[in-house]
Amino acid sequence: MLVSAKEMLDKAKAGHYAVGQFNINNLEWTKAILQTAQECNSPVILGVSEGAGKYMTGYKTVVGMVNGMLEELNITVPVALHLDHGSYDHCYKCIEAGFSSIMFDGSHYPIEENVAKTKELVAAAHEKGISIEAEVGSIGGEEDGVVGMGECADPNECKAIADLGIDFLAAGIGNIHGKYPENWAGLSFETLDAIQKLTGDMPLVLHGGTGIPADMIKKAISLGVAKINVNTECQLSFAAATREYIEAGKDKEGKGFDPRKLLAPGAEAIKATVKEKMELFGSVGKA
Ligand code: 13P
Repeated sequence: MLVSAKEMLDKAKAGHYAVGQFNINNLEWTKAILQTAQECNSPVILGVSEGAGKYMTGYKTVVGMVNGMLEELNITVPVALHLDHGSYDHCYKCIEAGFSSIMFDGSHYPIEENVAKTKELVAAAHEKGISIEAEVGSIGGEEDGVVGMGECADPNECKAIADLGIDFLAAGIGNIHGKYPENWAGLSFETLDAIQKLTGDMPLVLHGGTGIPADMIKKAISLGVAKINVNTECQLSFAAATREYIEAGKDKEGKGFDPRKLLAPGAEAIKATVKEKMELFGSVGKA
């Protein structure tokens, strides 16, 4: 059964480790992530972006697929199904569809509007026992080929949002989605420290987990980060393994063109990436 992410993240914050959010795109990814979480006896959060939700035909399909897998793969570790960077409307769609956690990304609104919408969604999510993440300070990334530098959130705005009763908070600390540019300045631990001081026990979320050096990840966890999002790294390892399979001509041998064979190396690569991250984040054995 899917669970809210609140309990697993409160435990992670208190225990000084982080739970990984791995984004899913299809059946193979979902299966690979769930099997790895079970093998590692680790809690896990499956992230679904609005785009990935649409690709998988809609949120109801995603909920049906994940619930079916939990039962048929005998998954017993805590699993949350979480909307990633949700808009106001899509938060409601996911609450209706049976997600166990949502993220409302109101970081692009003026702070007053972010506060008002977050407050309303906190009530709607909590009424159904669903956890909610909010965001302050937008997290950069590539847009139209230009990689934006990560913004640093204002700690006082973080406190204003945290006080609304959200379950975990994503705050920009110089992190960005996708690959980091050569001249990236690194994470702002000064900002993270100031945010943690004002938000107390609130688990903090680090987006853009791909490409952040291990020592920075560990330091971020020591300063209150309890959830780390990874997407691009799974995509890169999936693509590399699939390319290698095709370039070796394996799709031309026997029934190598069968999608169950063609997609298997990519799924194995995702498993290896997820395991490596769970070890780095310290969530192995914490289910
Ligand atoms: P990456 O794509 O950099 O791994 O970030 C994932 C993420 O933060 C999803 O919200």
